[in-house]
Amino acid sequence: MTEKSELIARAQEVMRRNDRGHYTVPTHGLYPFQWNWDSALSALGFSHFDEARAWTEIDTLFAHQWEDGMVPHIIFHEQDDGYFPGPEVWATGRETPTTGITQPPVAGFAMHRLFERAKDKTLAEKHARALLPRVHAWHEWFFRCRDPQGTGLVAVIHPWETGRDNSVDWDAAFERVPTDGVQPFTRRDTQHANPAHRPTDEQYKRYIYLVQLFRSLGWDNSKLHDASPFQMVDPGFNAILARSCHDLADQADTLDEPAIAARSRAFATKATAAMDTLWSDVHGQHLCLDRTTNTLTDSPSIGGILTVFAPIHSTRARALKERIETLSTSCEYLVPSHDPTTPEFDGLRYWRGPVWLIVNYMIADGLERAGQTEMAERIMADCLRLIHESGFAEYYDPITAEGCGGGHFTWTAAMVIEILRTHEVMA
Ligand code: DGY
Repeated sequence: MTEKSELIARAQEVMRRNDRGHYTVPTHGLYPFQWNWDSALSALGFSHFDEARAWTEIDTLFAHQWEDGMVPHIIFHEQDDGYFPGPEVWATGRETPTTGITQPPVAGFAMHRLFERAKDKTLAEKHARALLPRVHAWHEWFFRCRDPQGTGLVAVIHPWETGRDNSVDWDAAFERVPTDGVQPFTRRDTQHANPAHRPTDEQYKRYIYLVQLFRSLGWDNSKLHDASPFQMVDPGFNAILARSCHDLADQADTLDEPAIAARSRAFATKATAAMDTLWSDVHGQHLCLDRTTNTLTDSPSIGGILTVFAPIHSTRARALKERIETLSTSCEYLVPSHDPTTPEFDGLRYWRGPVWLIVNYMIADGLERAGQTEMAERIMADCLRLIHESGFAEYYDPITAEGCGGGHFTWTAAMVIEILRTHEVMA
C-alpha cells in the first residue's frame, strides 16, 4: 500500500465509523446527529468510493426541508442526551425533530460537483433532477426571508448559522444580545471536548437567548429576520450561497430547466456584485456587515477570505491570495480562521484562530478557479501536513498543529479523500 492509499483508507474508515446508513454524524459523542453543511461536504468524500451513498447523504438532508424552503442546520434523527441544545429546547414541532435555523448552503455546489464527476450518470441524473427544485427552493428562501430589502446579500440571525460559532466577527454584535430570561442549562459539548477549545459560557447564554426568542415567535421565518437583535451579513456565508447559485444554474442548464437556471444566475450575479460593498482596502479582504447598525465589523477573519469561493473578479482573487500570503508570515499552517497578529487570536479556540480543512478546501477551490494554483496547492499541502501531525481532528492550531475539538471527524476525513483523489499534492 502506498502512503497515499493508506491515508485514503484511514479516511474512509473514519467516514464509515460515523456512517449511520442514510446520514453521517460529524463525530461520535460531540455531534450525534446530522448537520447540514457537514453532510453536503462529506458527500464529496463518499463520492470517491460509494457514489450511491454520497447521493443518499444529500437526499436525507433535503427530506427534512421545511415547507417554506429552509433546510435546517441539525436533524435529530435519534434521541441522544449527550448533546445540548436538543429537540426539546428548539421545539420546532417537526415530525422528525430539527432545529429552526439553517447553515451555509453548500449543497448546491456539492450536488453539482457530484454530478460532474459521477461515473454512474443515470444514478446522478435521477438524484440531481429530484434535488434541483429543492435546492433552488432553499436559495429562494434565503433571498426572501434573509434579504427582505433585496440587497443581494443575506443575513444570518444566529452565529450557529454561519458554522463559525464563536468567531471574533460576532463579538461586538453579541454585546447587544441580552442574556436575561435565559433558562438555566447544562452544556454537554464541554464534556466531550476540551473547554479551552470551545465557545465560552457567556457566548452559550447568548446562543440560547436567540433560540428562545425565535421559539417564542413560533419559528415563523417571515418574522425572525426583523425580530433578531443579531443580523449579520457574513461574506463567507454569502460567497457559499453565490457559488451554489452559480453552480445550480449550470446544473439546471444541463438538466434543461431554463427557469431555474435564469433565476439562479441572477441571484449569483447580484450577490457577487453586492459582495464588493464588503471589501476593505485596509485589510485587503472582505469584512462582515452588521445589518442592525449598518457598519462593517473591523475584524479580519477567514469569512472575508472565503469569498474567493464565489465567482468574484480575478483582481479580488489575486488580492485575497496576497492576504493569505501575509497571514502565512505569522503562522505555520494555512489558513488560520483569524489573523494571528491580532490580540483576539486564539489558536486553540474553535473559530478564533484554528485551521479548518473544509474552509481550506473551499478557499483552495476558489483560488484554483481564479488561476491562483500555487497558493491553492500550498493550502492543500498544509491540510495534509496537519493530518500527518495530528490525525483527523475537527480543527488545528495554525502554529503548533495541535488537533482540537472532536476526533475522528467526518468532514476532515472527507476533505482528505477529496484532496488526494483530485490533486497530486504532497504533504
Ligand atoms: C455546536 O453545537 O457546537 C454546533 O456548532 C451548533 O451547530
